[in-house]
Amino acid sequence: KRLAILASGSGSNAEKIMEHFQNSEKATVGLIASNKPDAFVLERAKKFDVPGFTFTRKEMEAGDLLRKLQAKQIDWVILAGFLLKIPEDLIRAFPDRMVNIHPALLPNYGGKGMYGMKVHEAVKAAGDAQTGITIHLVNENYDEGKIIFQAATPVSPGDSPETIAEKVHALEHRYFPEVIESIIKKES
Ligand code: GRF
Repeated sequence: KRLAILASGSGSNAEKIMEHFQNSEKATVGLIASNKPDAFVLERAKKFDVPGFTFTRKEMEAGDLLRKLQAKQIDWVILAGFLLKIPEDLIRAFPDRMVNIHPALLPNYGGKGMYGMKVHEAVKAAGDAQTGITIHLVNENYDEGKIIFQAATPVSPGDSPETIAEKVHALEHRYFPEVIESIIKKES
């Protein structure tokens, strides 16, 4: 199976996924694509000899990203901190083959604008006793696709949004690569 990872930022999740599959016969990361030319994720791709590709939102909406994914014979698209809305034709080109990770326990704290530190600040403000990660398939309604996996971590009153973010990132790095491996194997 050939995976592409879409990321807009640092790419620590993308790195863990590239690491996990670098000597695997189950899957290969064939492309790292970003809408930010200076995203650190592109530096991480170089370390693993994975081709990088940058694009603008307009180019994505014009179909350039879809054509690139098809040219690289990508089977699965992994969103790892990708902050743009995916055009519907791109979602339809990868039915049940596009996976996103969200840094909260959906359906809580989902939806537009809920990303990164905003999520952890909301968890803190709500005084929740736990938070976690959700890995789900992407459909037209974005954070509402079929949930594949969730993991939780306790939140204590002494936690700050930053320490919550650290706990959530640890869960992401621990589970995202393995969950990807399990779903690409299961599906035809
Ligand atoms: C992660 O917290 C992920 O849940 C969210 O964006 C963040 C990406 O972090 N979608 P990184 O770029 O992989 O370090």
